[in-house]
Amino acid sequence: MKIDGTPYRSVWVDPIDGWSIRILDQTGLPWNLDILRLTSVREVAHAIRSMQVRGAPLIGAVAAYGMALSMRADTSADAMTATATALKATRPTAVNLAWAIDRMLTRLRSTRQADRLRVAYQEAALIADEDVAQNEAIGRHGMTLIAREAVRAGGRPINILTHCNAGWLATVDWGTALAPIYAAHDAGLPVHVWVDETRPRNQGAGLTAYELGKHGVPHTVIVDNAGGHLMQHGSVDLCIVGADRVTRTGDAANKIGTYLKALAAHDNGVPFWVAVPGTTIDWNVADGVRDIPIEERPATEVTTVTGRAMDGSVVTVRIAPSDSPAANPAFDVTPARLLTGLITERGICAATATGLLGLFPEQAPAQAG
Ligand code: MRU
Repeated sequence: MKIDGTPYRSVWVDPIDGWSIRILDQTGLPWNLDILRLTSVREVAHAIRSMQVRGAPLIGAVAAYGMALSMRADTSADAMTATATALKATRPTAVNLAWAIDRMLTRLRSTRQADRLRVAYQEAALIADEDVAQNEAIGRHGMTLIAREAVRAGGRPINILTHCNAGWLATVDWGTALAPIYAAHDAGLPVHVWVDETRPRNQGAGLTAYELGKHGVPHTVIVDNAGGHLMQHGSVDLCIVGADRVTRTGDAANKIGTYLKALAAHDNGVPFWVAVPGTTIDWNVADGVRDIPIEERPATEVTTVTGRAMDGSVVTVRIAPSDSPAANPAFDVTPARLLTGLITERGICAATATGLLGLFPEQAPAQAG
């Protein structure tokens, strides 16, 4: 996707040295567009933990490049295992992280030690390229839902509510929840996006609004508590969100607050879609509320807010009494029964085991076993 006319991916190999990893520092957006250079696994782990990069598919791709960077230092099997364990511990909820690292491990363990460095970069690049292709396909499939609404709406803009940032900044390119919106907008369908600000880190106000603005998609930032009111008044045609992990039965873990939006959508008969690539489906988990680990992040993310002061400087201010404790569960799980369905790179399905296996039949033997 483009920023001010320049095409970007959210992670790439430095074209000059051919080995270091470049990322956009998402902690600086929307105020500063800084490109960071990562040269070691330690820097990759820090980038993921501190959310310089975030979003389930992107942290998977960046971790894959982290495995490749580690091969420059040590190609032994023991080092590989230690690096994988360290990277997996950075953020527990998004299954794409473990998926990408396990794929790298499988590939590297079956590769001669002398070839591991080269193969690691190849495999990480494949993971990144596949993510782009999958998200593009999600965009094509999801656009059909928006087109259907557009026919019903008779020419007025289709109002879509989204939570957090599941756009191109959260993936290698295109995004998941935003991919259908970009596809619809590019095809000339009139769309307008309600952007939940997404406290505590404001990925909606800071990142989704930034992306949509750079692409020229009409949007309005709302506080997280406004969605239910807008739905009651007929101002939301459909909701599309991403996910960090979807169980084999269709439960979806996503940014904290998603569940409340799904409840409001259910109460108001507003379709609620979750857009995910196959890499976000955890075929080993059936009960999302019970079994998906929910990341607990620092209390300071709740008790402070970062923004741009009127003099142009970026400042962090405290918004709660200094002696008040705060809790910060970063994700919640929306039970499958509240979802209208899932949008994947292979098409659209019900948020059920049968629906998912219809699109991913190769997972059926694993389920039976
Ligand atoms: O904590 P974050 O910003 O990494 O959370 C991101 C989300 O919740 C996204 O909706 C999810 O990862 C899907 S990204 C395509």
